[in-house]
Amino acid sequence: MEKADNPSDLSKGVTKKFFIKTWGCQMNVYDSTRMHDVLESNGYMRTDQIEEADLVLLNTCHIREKAAEKVYSSLGRIRKLKRNRADSNRPLTIGVTGCVAQAEGKEIIRRESAVDLVVGPQNYHCLPDIVERSRKHGPQIDTEYSVEEKFERLPLLASHNQFKRRSITAFLTVQEGCDKFCTFCVVPYTRGPEFSRPRNQILEEASALVDVGVKEITLLGQNVNAWHGKDANGGEIGLGGLLNELAMIKGIRRLRYVTSHPLDMDKSLINAHRDLESLMPYLHLPIQSGSNRILKAMNRKHTVQDYLSIVDQLRIARPDLVLSSDFIVGFPGETDRDFQDTLEIVQQICYSQAFSFKYSRRPGTPGSDMENQVDEGVKSERLERLQSLLKKQQLSFNTDCIGKVIDILLEKSGRDANQLIGKSPWLQSVIVDSKIGSIGDLISVKVTGATLNSLHAELS
Ligand code: 5AD
Ligand code: SF4
Repeated sequence: MEKADNPSDLSKGVTKKFFIKTWGCQMNVYDSTRMHDVLESNGYMRTDQIEEADLVLLNTCHIREKAAEKVYSSLGRIRKLKRNRADSNRPLTIGVTGCVAQAEGKEIIRRESAVDLVVGPQNYHCLPDIVERSRKHGPQIDTEYSVEEKFERLPLLASHNQFKRRSITAFLTVQEGCDKFCTFCVVPYTRGPEFSRPRNQILEEASALVDVGVKEITLLGQNVNAWHGKDANGGEIGLGGLLNELAMIKGIRRLRYVTSHPLDMDKSLINAHRDLESLMPYLHLPIQSGSNRILKAMNRKHTVQDYLSIVDQLRIARPDLVLSSDFIVGFPGETDRDFQDTLEIVQQICYSQAFSFKYSRRPGTPGSDMENQVDEGVKSERLERLQSLLKKQQLSFNTDCIGKVIDILLEKSGRDANQLIGKSPWLQSVIVDSKIGSIGDLISVKVTGATLNSLHAELS
């Protein structure tokens, strides 16, 4: 059989297939969807079977050590697949994208020679070209920062098909990158400086999503609340202003945003929580540590008191608002006293859920060169204590919902055929009998049961 040079060479009956595996945060999930869009526009088809693929992409995360190691062990397995294909007329192209690609660049190809392309998060609009170049000229690396171009040049999901996979809920990246330089974090180095997408581009994408049935949009950004832009009259607005505009789009039933930095929680954003019914009463607001000494060493630029004051203002603006957070235990220099302060802040705030991690040394970040690293055993023991407290709070938040009537947005089928799963305003998964509604419905239900990770409910 003849090999097609052009991926869209359907006339020869050849459609190239790609397989994509995504690690990490929601932004990577969004980026994978946009890569899907750009590849589909260039004649590729997605497959969920890696064995069928002509192109395998690993969209990677670099936030903690294990994330990168998982990529290398996956690459080892895919190399064998490529070797088996070597003599066939369907060679396999392997690409690494995302933050590991950005951070490690050509090191990836040095360590794993089966890799054909390494593409950083700002360069996905060039993906089809890079794939073709790698087939003709060998391994390609593209890790330039060109975030503006990325969004201008990625096709805006022209066809209905492309949009359909967004289903009932969709992510929409409004901001990328970070200028904060927390001393533990690689993001400023992998995603580059802060960039806000223009308002018009965002409103256009949101309307297009609503047109194909999306009911809930989650705005994404590494520092989503650092978003700023101009309104229709050229006036400066922040994320609060943008949310006000999005809330006016008919058909958007729910809005969320993630991840926020306490420093960028301004008055207009807090007021948006007071004024916008569609803005869900749930906020992921990482504090990382409950010790001012450690926050300073982390270069977080806020104190525990600053954080508490924001939480107070938010709770006044929207009394049913609940909070989630990220925590790092065992940052260099963290003493038992500092860790105790973290436990105390958790007790004081009371989270509906939260993520917690052991500090992981990231090469190139200031934290990794600090001398007073904490012993792994101590980190593990602290993480266990913190997680057990957070779990207790999560379970008690869920249990307190029993008997209450809440609105849920039905998103998907459950594990059993007669079940549907929806989300509460507070991002809890709620399992209901499928007779009571259809996917996409926003319905009122009465909570009848609770576990750590979900609620059960019936028609109210
Ligand atoms: N070690 C452990 N956790 C980290 N995070 C970011 N960098 C590190 C690191 N080096 C966590 C932070 C951040 C979340 C996305 O990941 O808590 O908020
Ligand atoms: Fe990383 Fe801090 Fe920027 Fe968040 S604010 S992405 S934790 S450097």
